[in-house]
Amino acid sequence: MNVQKIMVIGAGQMGSGIAQVCAMAGYDVTLHDLKPEFVERGLGTINKNLSRQVEKGRMSEDDKLSIVNRISSSTELSNAGGVDLVIEAAVENMNIKKKIFEQLDEITPAHTILATNTSSLPITEIAAVTKRPEQVIGMHFMNPVPVMKLVEIIRGLATTDEVYNTIEEITRKLEKVPVEVNDFPGFVSNRILMPMINEAIYTVYEGVASPEAIDEVMKLGMNHPMGPLTLADFIGLDTCLYIMETLHEGFGDDKYRPCPLLRKYVKAGWLGRKTGRGFYSYE
Ligand code: CAA
Repeated sequence: MNVQKIMVIGAGQMGSGIAQVCAMAGYDVTLHDLKPEFVERGLGTINKNLSRQVEKGRMSEDDKLSIVNRISSSTELSNAGGVDLVIEAAVENMNIKKKIFEQLDEITPAHTILATNTSSLPITEIAAVTKRPEQVIGMHFMNPVPVMKLVEIIRGLATTDEVYNTIEEITRKLEKVPVEVNDFPGFVSNRILMPMINEAIYTVYEGVASPEAIDEVMKLGMNHPMGPLTLADFIGLDTCLYIMETLHEGFGDDKYRPCPLLRKYVKAGWLGRKTGRGFYSYE
């Protein structure tokens, strides 16, 4: 299937990164969000990232300009009417995602593939609200998107091989590495990563060691680029809690119970870097 035009829904950390790598790979991109200021903020992040590439001599100013010019802004979902692929990166909330997919199913042409960047929600359930579940697929990018090589590609129950192969090919064009997984809570990445982060939080909760000590152990002892608590702050503690709850509910197994300290921080509004306070303080 020939994909040229892509809409990215959600101009936050993930959506703006996805829009950036799509435009860098030569696709025409529409970056959509609810309000113009959200789209503007996403475009600002993209601009900053590309300027750094220019400063480092990896990209010319002309290349940067043509990448930026390939991205248009949208606050009306009806703009999805002319695209071949939608990558949804809105908030992690099943009801919101279902509403978006229902609307996209009405708005987009019959050939359009509907992908979601959900980090743990069932693709099959999202696909079921559309009349084209065979064209719905998970495309899970990692944060920060411009840097991380992995894209987990998740097949829903009905996803066809043709759609899977198209998405795999696009992923390679984005200079990412596709890894195929089936539709189970948390897929592979978050089924393994989040219980590790949750366990690190239990380790603080039980007074085994300080956040600094825990992160140092995992960085120096296991060669992780970031300790699990720094990473949790980076991902956002609300997202970490939401994914743990999805695992807990999806498997019905108490081994996935979210740590009470994680719940407490989220209730306090300590969501990590984005609110200036999580396991660490960010001025
Ligand atoms: N956006 C774009 N580029 C960024 C960036 C960002 N937010 N943050 C860092 N970079 C770039 C830097 O510009 C730098 O680029 P160059 O080497 O080309 O100059 C490069 O990344 C390295 O950055 P730094 O030297 O500043 O810092 P670092 O070496 O510590 O790397 C890191 C930063 C890449 C984020 C690294 O710490 C890392 O890999 N951390 C772990 C990230 C991770 O685990 N991500 C997955 C999270 S889970 C997820 O995303 C899925 C989910 O569903 C929750």
